[in-house]
Amino acid sequence: MMTSKKKQLLVLIALVLGTIALSVNQKGAQQLAKIVGKSDYSSEKNALVQEFASAYEPEASPSGVVREFALTASESQVEIVQGYETNVWSYNGTVPGPQLRVKLGETVRVAFENDLPEETTVHWHGVRVANEMDGVPGVTQDPIQPGASFVYEFTPKDAGTFWFHPHVRGSEQVERGLYGVLIVEDEQEHSYSQDVVWVVDDWRLLSDSQVSPNFNTMHDLMHDGRWGNVITVNGKQQEQLEVNAGERIRLRMINTSNGRIYAPSFGQLDAKIIAVDGMYVRKPLDASGYELAPGNRIDVDIKVDPSLAGKQIDIQDFFTQNTNKLGAITVSDTVVATPSFEYPTNKSVPNWVSAVDLPVDHDITMNARRLGGMGIEWTLGGKAFPNTDQLSLKAGNFYKISYTNESFRLHPMHLHGQFFKVISRNGVPVDEPYFQDTVLVHSKETVEIGIIPLDTGAWAHHCHILEHAEAGMMQVVNVI
Ligand code: C2O
Ligand code: CU
Repeated sequence: MMTSKKKQLLVLIALVLGTIALSVNQKGAQQLAKIVGKSDYSSEKNALVQEFASAYEPEASPSGVVREFALTASESQVEIVQGYETNVWSYNGTVPGPQLRVKLGETVRVAFENDLPEETTVHWHGVRVANEMDGVPGVTQDPIQPGASFVYEFTPKDAGTFWFHPHVRGSEQVERGLYGVLIVEDEQEHSYSQDVVWVVDDWRLLSDSQVSPNFNTMHDLMHDGRWGNVITVNGKQQEQLEVNAGERIRLRMINTSNGRIYAPSFGQLDAKIIAVDGMYVRKPLDASGYELAPGNRIDVDIKVDPSLAGKQIDIQDFFTQNTNKLGAITVSDTVVATPSFEYPTNKSVPNWVSAVDLPVDHDITMNARRLGGMGIEWTLGGKAFPNTDQLSLKAGNFYKISYTNESFRLHPMHLHGQFFKVISRNGVPVDEPYFQDTVLVHSKETVEIGIIPLDTGAWAHHCHILEHAEAGMMQVVNVI
């Protein structure tokens, strides 16, 4: 028999839940049910969970359409410097590799073949895939041997700009040219005049235009990884994008470099960031100066003012004292009407301001350690992979994770399979209105992030300066 007190309590709970359900749209309410269902509902963190509930879909909604792609990694030659053939490793013979484009809801099936002289895997950076499709050797799959093949299959849960690359000896394999693009288009299209991808990379080329074969040098390990002497966009130096005056462009920039960070400027162009790491921002941000670290993507909404007809606007990188020209936007004399629509945004990105006062659940210190003789290790919590601690997080619960960078180097920290949001920097609360899968932690900086993991499995968490990752800056995060 139920006591009347118990009945009253149940009615109260039902009322509270009802109010919550009414305050979000119906789809949101269904998601809320799924997420809250996994949450330990007693915690004070539930307000943060509720604020998050309609931020993005917990599950994919497969449309039933399967898109098949063939992807082969092999040794090949490309022209990076005009008039020279450079030996690279590539996907399908080009650097960048193919641009896979699908619609949200479509299933991606990639028949991958390894024609490299060594083992490899493919990791789908930023895509919330089932754990066994994540491409991390020794964690989610066995490495794919030379001559062997593997089928990757997943239905993306988010529309946006993603990329893929190997997760075996990444500091060499990615540097040699193994990376490609995955674009997941929205269900409804926005009427941009052009939708363009700029894959930004740098290369360390010798005087004969060959890739310097000295990987993981002591210098690169002790600094911010391997920074090259030739910067390319889409595999070419000085990429030019031709547009008409009045056009509105969606420019998707991806940093596939091992270590270099770019802070692009857009000159006189009206350029707004509408998405970070694939996910729409809550409100558009000024694009100039955003620090695009290895792994990061930004989608930039560029309106080319008719007054720019006949001009060329250089896109420059200002991250270091030496400015680098990445490419240019060349505006023709033709003037067209500017497509007019609201900036695509995600109003449901939480601000999580109240998270600032919560205690830290996991404090991750980052530092280097000299090994006896001529080596260096990069550590998380004082340990180097594979000896790093594993973290365990419960799906649907809010966690606050703090990165304490005790070193003088840069560390873009990337977590597979999840998105998170920065909530403070050096103790100062910030509302950066977007989710990320990779956050740049500067020298001696402390960055706190909030995260509600949704996808279960063993996920790699590492610095995306690939030399740092190779030297130990990696751990496994188990979402249960
Ligand atoms: Cu783009 Cu584990 O990496
Ligand atoms: Cu690092």
